[in-house]
Amino acid sequence: MSLAAFISDLDALAAEAATKFAAAADAAALEAARVEFLGAKSGRLKDAQKGLGTVGKDDKPAAGKKFNDVKAAIEAAFAEAQERAGAGGAKVAAGPPFDPTQPGLRPRLGHLHPLTQTIEELKDIMGRLGFTVAHGPEIEDERHNFEALNIPKAHPARDPLENFYLAVAGKVQGSGFGVQGSSSTSNTDPKNPELLLRSQTSTVQIRVMENQPPPVRIISLGRVYRPDTADATHYPMFHQIEGLLIDKHVTMADLKSTLRLFAGSYFGGEVHIRFRPSFFPFTEPSVEVDMQWNDRWIEMGGAGMVDPNVLRAVGYDPEEVSGFAFGLGVERVCARRHQVTDIREFYRNDVRFLEQF
Ligand code: PHE
Repeated sequence: MSLAAFISDLDALAAEAATKFAAAADAAALEAARVEFLGAKSGRLKDAQKGLGTVGKDDKPAAGKKFNDVKAAIEAAFAEAQERAGAGGAKVAAGPPFDPTQPGLRPRLGHLHPLTQTIEELKDIMGRLGFTVAHGPEIEDERHNFEALNIPKAHPARDPLENFYLAVAGKVQGSGFGVQGSSSTSNTDPKNPELLLRSQTSTVQIRVMENQPPPVRIISLGRVYRPDTADATHYPMFHQIEGLLIDKHVTMADLKSTLRLFAGSYFGGEVHIRFRPSFFPFTEPSVEVDMQWNDRWIEMGGAGMVDPNVLRAVGYDPEEVSGFAFGLGVERVCARRHQVTDIREFYRNDVRFLEQF
């Protein structure tokens, strides 16, 4: 093969390669063109290299140089085409151009948990009846959870099995209960009180009355804890709404009409209230409160007239003032209104349940 023929073949190859690289529509076409020209085993450049052995001896250096130049040119053409495909390809993959006239995608908004919604609504209803919201800690001492509420040391409500006492190093907890036999532990020692997760929101009654003179008109909503096994109607943590009204001449009739207004506002429509005689150490008389809505009675919690011993424990004069208190289960009222049959649903955090509210 003459040097001239070798050179013209190579030039033709370079031109063809450049055209094909430039025309490749996508990455696959470009790759096919790369294999055709630059393929290591049977690429056309590789074929052309065989011509090197057929040119005359004197022409070899010139032919070699030409070959190297053309090889570099084809590689450069490929690199350039590849770069263009990279930049342009991304644009094609992104789909049609942005159209500002298309309707937007509505973001999925969450909402408050049904119990939180209930708590807010109950605050609102009681606020309209003149009750302000009071708060108390969830970790309590025995004075506020029991003693000032007229729950004496040996009372079964103080049993360690009925409460979440907190372990404090070197101390037997729940010693207020006689069975522990360690009643020498001074659970009334103000410097070293027994602590527990509060078992009722009645603790807040004491905290409020300790800090202000009568009259009092508060509600308190929050978590309470009892070591109950979880089932459809029990959970070791649940919420109560506590109400307390202290003034001159408060009667049981005030209690009943307050609860009736409250229930009527929350459930809507006619709600009947039924009191059944009961016992709580901190109220006298005490009642269980049932509410009837849509022809079904449901137990809502306890209530009663504040026991004179409780008034005395906070420095109030039972001859001067009287009052009522109630404590209702928030899960119960919420479940009743929404026909939830298992209160564990409130804590499973299953979005399919929660998004219904
Ligand atoms: N604290 C009582 C309970 O948890 C309910 C209650 C509150 C009863 C206020 C009377 C007065 O069962």
